[in-house]
Amino acid sequence: PRIQIINGPNLNLLGKRQPEIYGAETLDDVARDCEALAAELGLELSFYQSNHEGGIIDCIHAARETCAGIVINPGAYTHTSVAILDALNAFDGKVIECHISNVHKRESFRHHSYVSLRADGVIAGFGTQGYQLALRRMAVLTA
Ligand code: DQA
Repeated sequence: PRIQIINGPNLNLLGKRQPEIYGAETLDDVARDCEALAAELGLELSFYQSNHEGGIIDCIHAARETCAGIVINPGAYTHTSVAILDALNAFDGKVIECHISNVHKRESFRHHSYVSLRADGVIAGFGTQGYQLALRRMAVLTA
């Protein structure tokens, strides 16, 4: 099965952006680690990052035809975007929401997630390892 990994706004700066919160690994490092694990798990991966809500929505639409699951870190759109929730509601596969930081330990505006209304599972606070944990779960959900 093919899994689409989607990263939202500011995650292109991973490794440089607030490393005390998000760690030192870059998004390329994350992609490399995910590819290695996916080979083990028998998953195929597609990666997408955008700072634009519409780009993320188009990517979710495209995944309708090609992917069994989506792992999404919507960044700050997590807390604001009904449009991303609607796009995910139009996707029939499995959805895992992934946050690098523990959003519940942070500002109260990060405690609510629109995407969680659709997600089959949520990961937060495991650092960039969370993407790998999400993939392990995806392998079970899409088997
Ligand atoms: C984040 C948490 C969000 O609140 C924040 O806006 C991000 C990253 C995380 O991965 O911890 O951009 O999704």
